Amino acid sequence: MPTDHASGGRLRVVILISGNGSNLQAIIDAVADHRLHVQIAAVISNRADAGGLERARRAGLHTAVVDHRSHPDRASFDGALREAIDAHRPELVVLAGFMRILTGPFVDHYRGRMLNIHPSLLPQFRGLDTHARALAAGVEEHGASVHFVTSELDGGPVVAQVRVPVESGDTAQDLAARVLEQEHRLYPLVIEWFAQNRLQLRNDGKLSLDGRELRVPCRLQGDSGEIIQCG
Ligand code: GRF
Repeated sequence: MPTDHASGGRLRVVILISGNGSNLQAIIDAVADHRLHVQIAAVISNRADAGGLERARRAGLHTAVVDHRSHPDRASFDGALREAIDAHRPELVVLAGFMRILTGPFVDHYRGRMLNIHPSLLPQFRGLDTHARALAAGVEEHGASVHFVTSELDGGPVVAQVRVPVESGDTAQDLAARVLEQEHRLYPLVIEWFAQNRLQLRNDGKLSLDGRELRVPCRLQGDSGEIIQCG
């Protein structure tokens, strides 16, 4: 399918991280394997010690740090972050383990062009410590969701999910590791839909995939391959 973005070439993406960056790595690998057709214009972290920065450098990507601790408040940090992002003229901003709450004006600026991955089956378990909370709640299935970012924390429209069965004796770490593995399959797929102009957040707040309203999140299934069930 041909791309059709403002740049005329590959979709320009800026990726925001705060930590290890294994989702970033999955995106880098998907681009290298020609499964994902985007240009990673920059990787930006709010922490200079984020492991993901080293992954980005190894891949020859442009990196930057906007340290939240050098800003007196959220608005000032978000302003600096926005400036650093927009210097790269991205058409999509990808939050990949970016652990800061963003202000309304920042989120509105990127409306319809900012995605996040969250380690739960949203709307269950918004916020932090999702794996421990899922275990405490005794759910049989946990998982991850990719959604557009809106001003409601982890509350934007969900594009796709992957389910992970909870096994008896699971610790939060066990569960987190299995979910993370699936996140690495899910995120590049959804980003590719956006890159191919298949996926949009409409003005009315609803999602559109391949020209049709997406009422229920798509589901990634199976241990191998890229089987997605939508609708
Ligand atoms: C992932 O579980 C992601 O869903 C969450 O933070 C974690 C980041 O992991 N938002 P990594 O930095 O991509 O390894």
